[in-house]
Amino acid sequence: MAPPKAKVRPKASKQPTHKPQKERDAKVSQEPPSAIPLELQQLLLNIFRSSFSERFESDITPLLQEVKGHLYNRDFLAAFGKEEYLEVYAARWSPSRALGYLEVLESLRKEMQPFSTVDEESEGSRWKVACLGGGAGAEIVALGGFLKWLEMRVEEERGREMNLVAIDIADWGNVVEKLQQGLVTKPPLSKYASTAAQAANVALLHPACLNVSFKQHDVLNAPFSSLSPLVQDTNLVTLLFTLNELYSTSISLTQQFLLNLTSSLRPGSFLLVVDSPGSYSSVSLNGAEKKYPMQWLLDHTLLEEERGAEPRWEKVKEDESRWFRLDEKLKYPIELENMRFQLHFYRRLG
Ligand SMILES: C[S@@+](CC[C@H](N)C(=O)[O-])C[C@H]1O[C@@H](n2cnc3c(N)ncnc32)[C@H](O)[C@@H]1O
Repeated sequence: MAPPKAKVRPKASKQPTHKPQKERDAKVSQEPPSAIPLELQQLLLNIFRSSFSERFESDITPLLQEVKGHLYNRDFLAAFGKEEYLEVYAARWSPSRALGYLEVLESLRKEMQPFSTVDEESEGSRWKVACLGGGAGAEIVALGGFLKWLEMRVEEERGREMNLVAIDIADWGNVVEKLQQGLVTKPPLSKYASTAAQAANVALLHPACLNVSFKQHDVLNAPFSSLSPLVQDTNLVTLLFTLNELYSTSISLTQQFLLNLTSSLRPGSFLLVVDSPGSYSSVSLNGAEKKYPMQWLLDHTLLEEERGAEPRWEKVKEDESRWFRLDEKLKYPIELENMRFQLHFYRRLG
């Protein structure tokens, strides 16, 4: 996991505490406003706040600094070796990503329309989604928020249900469980809440809408046969801020993994890749180091056909650099940042 580049200024405050970084302010007006209502974005932030409320009860700074230190040294075993580290990571870095991913999903909604109907005959209206490297929960909350957003906005998507599996090398099971509970149970209320507030207090989603599970799994080194049943009939596979980390571990293992994934996925399924813009990986060839941009490696594996073979993927959308900017009205106990990313969205062909 690459060390987060975000600045951490985690002083608890009752005011909205995340501010777009100054050097980015000039570009704010060029960004289209978010399609997702602020109320929904705030509800998702509240899920992180209440899931990790214990972490906010005392000063979170020392733990965050320890995690940052381990990440900076690329000592992932240490960074993710304690439950409290996993929780502070998810409390600090997943909320803004969750909102950013929700915006991405909304921007791809039209392209994803075919997948709304894929399962109608065989499995009712349940979508199947696999989030590779998704243990820290940003994808889970984003997809839960997306279900809610569809329920609010798209008549024919009401009642849509999802089976989501988060697959990760680190043991994020408890974090996943807490966030899943946060999505399907009523948010905690103060004991002084009015009767009206209590009556209005509802869970974001009905528990039947979202079934989340977690599988600890090394996607590069464990046999693909153990991953295959989890991904083979999914409608959507995500690799969010994870692919470049896989390439950094091993380009050849990652290429092999992507080829295995391709063989397992059925036509019509989607692959969404989001990562830092300008990511590249290096390989040594005959003593000389060569750098490959992440998107070049990805396209090379997915889009280049063997001579005479049918294409296996089509690229539906790509963006080399996109911003997600947090609205200043949103409230969260610690500072969060805007997110810049590259995006690649593919559809498996028949
Ligand atoms: C930078 S974090 C991104 C987390 C999350 N997807 C997000 O966007 O906020 C990368 C994630 O990939 C996971 N990861 C790294 N190598 C992996 C591997 N070989 N197999 C499965 N997961 C891996 C890490 O444990 C970590 O949770």
